[in-house]
Amino acid sequence: MAQFFPFKNSTNTLSSLPKLGVGLSFQAPLQSFVESYWDSFDFLEIIPDTFWNDLGASATPRYQENRNIQGYMEFLAKHKPIIAHSIGLSIGSADWFDSLHVAQIAKWQRQYHFPWHSDHLSFSRLTQTFGHLIDVGLTMPVPYDAEVLDLLVDRVNYVHREVSVPFLLENNVYYFEIPNQEMSEADFLNQLTARTGCGLLLDLHNLYVNAYNHHFDPWDFLNNLDLTQVVEIHVAGGMVMEGFYLDAHSGVCPQAVWQLLEELLPQAPNVAGIVFEVFGTYYYQMGPELLKQELSQARAIWKASR
Ligand SMILES: [Fe+2]
Repeated sequence: MAQFFPFKNSTNTLSSLPKLGVGLSFQAPLQSFVESYWDSFDFLEIIPDTFWNDLGASATPRYQENRNIQGYMEFLAKHKPIIAHSIGLSIGSADWFDSLHVAQIAKWQRQYHFPWHSDHLSFSRLTQTFGHLIDVGLTMPVPYDAEVLDLLVDRVNYVHREVSVPFLLENNVYYFEIPNQEMSEADFLNQLTARTGCGLLLDLHNLYVNAYNHHFDPWDFLNNLDLTQVVEIHVAGGMVMEGFYLDAHSGVCPQAVWQLLEELLPQAPNVAGIVFEVFGTYYYQMGPELLKQELSQARAIWKASR
């Protein structure tokens, strides 16, 4: 089958994206914050999968949309640019590719004009022995080998054909290491972006989590990564539990992650947005003042790097 590469010069495509500034990852419990403090962020990142009901792969129609929720999306989109950061593609599932999910993202992109969209470089769904599809509810890491790379290249190209704006994949968090991998994470990401032209959503907190749990220097990864492909950065907070540091999105961002951001931005010329992530349930604990403080810290670093 002939391959179609819509982004022949990916660096040019990624570099021409609007520089949005600092964004907030939207979740329903943040509604009052968003409506009270519009000035504390420049754009919103939504998880589109949380705005519709997925009735299952065999259902027709597959997705059920709610008029009230869509009305709220339209309200948000009138105030700020919206970016879609999906959790539902499961692009690394070995035996399953969700083309209907891609079609649904394409439909929302046409409706809300996201300048780019993203998902996770991971898998969460797999088929059991008797054909039953399960969702493990976590972004599981994929092995970094040539076979997985070929599989992902075809799928990213498919996404590019169906959705007319750049697609980014997010570096994943992993709590265990898959043995005997053929390449490092940075090599794998570089080959994936070089072969497809896709961008990267670099989650610095995910990197910090991996570096903490597996005892390496985050710069060993960053120094080997093609930073020209980074379009978006995530920052967040976490917590230590039973010896592991968890990507819990549970509050303020560690100082070490802010420092990574500060040092990285001047080296990543195509970054168009930094997003602060906090789970809605932890927002009640965090409160508006601390959230405003985190957003203004991100803004100060963003402005200093411009
Ligand atoms: Fe993230």
